[in-house]
Amino acid sequence: MHNTITVKGARLHNLKNVTVSIPKNQLVVLTGLSGSGKSSLMLDILDRAARQRFYGAGDPPGDHLAITGWEHLDKVITLDQSAIGRTTRSNAATYTDSFTPIRQTFAETPTAQARGLTAAHFSFNTAGGRCERCQGAGTLTVNMHFLPDVEVRCPACHGTRFKREVLDVTYRGRTISDVLEMSITEAAALFANVPAAHNRLALMTDVGLGYLKLGQPATTLSGGEAQRVKLAKELSRKATGRTLYLLDEPSTGLHPADVAHLLKVLHGLVDAGNSVVVIKHNLDVIRDADWLIDLGPEGGDTGGDIIAEGTPEEVARMAESYTGQCLQKQ
Ligand SMILES: Nc1ncnc2c1ncn2[C@@H]1O[C@H](COP(=O)(O)OP(=O)(O)OP(=O)(O)O)[C@@H](O)[C@H]1O
Ligand SMILES: [Mg+2]
Ligand SMILES: [Zn+2]
Repeated sequence: MHNTITVKGARLHNLKNVTVSIPKNQLVVLTGLSGSGKSSLMLDILDRAARQRFYGAGDPPGDHLAITGWEHLDKVITLDQSAIGRTTRSNAATYTDSFTPIRQTFAETPTAQARGLTAAHFSFNTAGGRCERCQGAGTLTVNMHFLPDVEVRCPACHGTRFKREVLDVTYRGRTISDVLEMSITEAAALFANVPAAHNRLALMTDVGLGYLKLGQPATTLSGGEAQRVKLAKELSRKATGRTLYLLDEPSTGLHPADVAHLLKVLHGLVDAGNSVVVIKHNLDVIRDADWLIDLGPEGGDTGGDIIAEGTPEEVARMAESYTGQCLQKQ
């Protein structure tokens, strides 16, 4: 048997005093019908216990006896689908820090140098180079009295967010405003010679976000997109090889090609020594797992038990598991 992280005697919500072992250094998929207890086990117990242990803070974990195997880990990263920013001032580029080397690149162009423009002038979040009429938003909010507010394009910068002198500066023929309108894939190509920018943008294409506009406000990203932006950001950090990644429903509505991409990324994390637990229904992900844990048999009081544990081949032979039945039909 592998080294494992084991949650013993979990009783929170509908969990029936279950003991679950997560093999280390494997891609583990936790399945089960809605309400079977997946989030209770992984988020309300394991994630909170790990948070207390590694960061000494947060809510106490839900009812369980013990967790063993901490020696295999030095941190936990949980990626849920909550929003990454509450203001239009944040976007995928700022959140992942891709925008800093991009601004730096503009500041290093001869035109910028001649005009004394620094990286700060290419920010729409600080005064200096941004349009002050809209404070870099590109839009103005018009109060319509008794009607909902309306967003209109800023008449001063025509939606470009920046002052004229900043827009006179180009890198390979593009202004900073053009760059914010580009897709992540296009931007990754434009900054191919700027590793700090290129590598972070490439990580976002790796998780299937190449189509996103660089400047799209974080508030407008879907839950699944926000989760993948977080994953890209985590991937850019130095890996410890002893991290436990917990992902709740990461491939909701993803294009099959993007699921394949995401799986490659997750397998890469495992190959680097980390452990990954994905909470998921999607059969593509299930078949690709190293190890399955199936909760059920159903939701609520009729759930909360371990129905099957093992490799996908082993679980496929278990007729009492819905996941096993599905795997058999494939
Ligand atoms: N805070 C809570 N208080 C009481 N019961 C809860 C609480 N949170 C969840 N439950 C119940 O515990 C059971 C398991 O819920 P849980 O969220 O763990 O399911 P899940 O497997 O993650 O489902 P889904 O696939 O829909 O996310 C459900 O019956 C749910 O109603
Ligand atoms: Mg859940
Ligand atoms: Zn403006």
